[in-house]
Amino acid sequence: MADLINEINRRRTFAIISHPDAGKTTLTEKLLLYGGAIALAGSVKGKKTDRHAVSDWMEIEKQRGISVTSSVMQFEYGGCCINILDTPGHQDFSEDTYRTLMAVDSAVMVIDAAKGVENQTRKLFKVCVMRHIPIFTFINKLDRDSKNPFDLLSEIEDELGISTYPMNFPIGDGVDFKGVYDRTAKRILCYERGDGQHEVRAVEADISDSSLNALIGEKNRLQLLEDVELLDGAGDALDRDEVAAGRLSPVFFGSALNSFGVEPFLKSFLEMGPSPLPRECVGGTVEPTDPRFSAFVFKIQANMNKAHRDRLTFMRICSGKFERDMEVVHVQGDGKKMRLSQPQQMMADSREVIEEAYAGDIIGVFDPGIFSIGDTVCAPGMNIAFEGIPTFAPEHFARIRHKDTMKRKQFVKGATQIAQEGAIQIFREPDTGMEEVIVGVVGMLQFDVFAHRMLNEYNVEIINEPLPYQYIRWIDSDTDPKALNLSSDTKIVEDFKGNSLLLFTSEWNIRWALEKNEGLELAEFNRE
Ligand code: G4P
Repeated sequence: MADLINEINRRRTFAIISHPDAGKTTLTEKLLLYGGAIALAGSVKGKKTDRHAVSDWMEIEKQRGISVTSSVMQFEYGGCCINILDTPGHQDFSEDTYRTLMAVDSAVMVIDAAKGVENQTRKLFKVCVMRHIPIFTFINKLDRDSKNPFDLLSEIEDELGISTYPMNFPIGDGVDFKGVYDRTAKRILCYERGDGQHEVRAVEADISDSSLNALIGEKNRLQLLEDVELLDGAGDALDRDEVAAGRLSPVFFGSALNSFGVEPFLKSFLEMGPSPLPRECVGGTVEPTDPRFSAFVFKIQANMNKAHRDRLTFMRICSGKFERDMEVVHVQGDGKKMRLSQPQQMMADSREVIEEAYAGDIIGVFDPGIFSIGDTVCAPGMNIAFEGIPTFAPEHFARIRHKDTMKRKQFVKGATQIAQEGAIQIFREPDTGMEEVIVGVVGMLQFDVFAHRMLNEYNVEIINEPLPYQYIRWIDSDTDPKALNLSSDTKIVEDFKGNSLLLFTSEWNIRWALEKNEGLELAEFNRE
């Protein structure tokens, strides 16, 4: 039991979120480098090396330079076992990010010092707030001309509605960037442009001592003196309870590309960041140290590796210890007992079969098509169900069919599998077959990913005819959809469980339908 508690307490499971280009991939890679999980930094995607960051593995990601799916990386550092969950930076994939955030205990938000809070950070942040998880901020690219650090902090506070506590403070920026002042240790980390592979020099500093002028220049020293006075004068100590509640974000300044400030950030994060947290289930809470194994599905991904042609289901372990070949119950699968076949731990595109894993860890298991997002798997007799993960209502719709009629079978298989992953939602018009489907997505780019995957993974070229609908509603009453009085631009569709839905072009049409059809009830989410 002591071993179990120790293993769980030393785990840190977090996601990194950012607006595209803020430096998420670079930071992730530097963290992996410190953990010895990769040998050489600089494998970041880029023209120079033509290699791709380990977390950026899917083909479409390589082509577009965006992260589409979330991958999981595990490594050891300073006695901790760290699980980093990568998230797609693009807003069109915010639903995927949302699910990933359901599986973590804290988040690291990367902000570009020149740009401040960007659109995407705002959106992802709201998702973090919904989960009340601690958020640590890394303000990146101080080696470039940056916004005033106080302005950056106010921006985070005003735009995201969270308090900030700068753990360190930058000295200059851009060509004049000299380093950061560590407020706790009262020392200066000197910035030296190097090869980005090694840690930097740290100097104990009494900032009122003019001998520091030789190191950072008089102007910078006087500015720092003023800044630190201002910060300390503000008086708020670092309140860890506020951090834990997701109301106060510790902020670190640095430069991921130059490995500057990354290691101190990691150390501080590991010290303050939460170990696996208890998780809500229907009618109660599951403690991570409960020795009985439990986990929930937060992600399903087919064909992760073209050579393998498989479907992997990712589970976050919420309690206890997982052992290979142990018997578990799939709660939503009628409580059927099963063994999880070949549990995998992921490291970007390489995988390893694991013998054991603990609460906080993520495992991938081969899935013959039985799991859905949000499902619970647990030890026999435990009898719990974790609270489900809500689905975002799609906002864009298109009629999709296959170009080559000979490819019907692959079309159906591909569309169904990709829909099961939750990346897209598929519907059909009543009384039609699977020759064509109506696809709904949260972000337009998901159509591109869908077309790309259909072609690459199922060898099916598709035709996409955009539809003007923007709203979807489930019919929540016993009404026969065919008997409804609807405006001519409202469409009746069915999901694959046979539920009837309506697609609307405007909110006005939704009101119209409700007014003209007494007793009609419409739901924004499928309540199943
Ligand atoms: P993302 O995953 O958040 O989208 O960002 P990513 O790490 O890919 O970084 C985006 C760009 O910013 C990259 O340049 C990267 O090298 C650069 N970058 C990251 N951290 C820093 C930093 O601390 N300082 C500076 N100056 N740049 C940084 P790129 O031009 O897209 O790629 P490449 O041509 O440099 O490889």
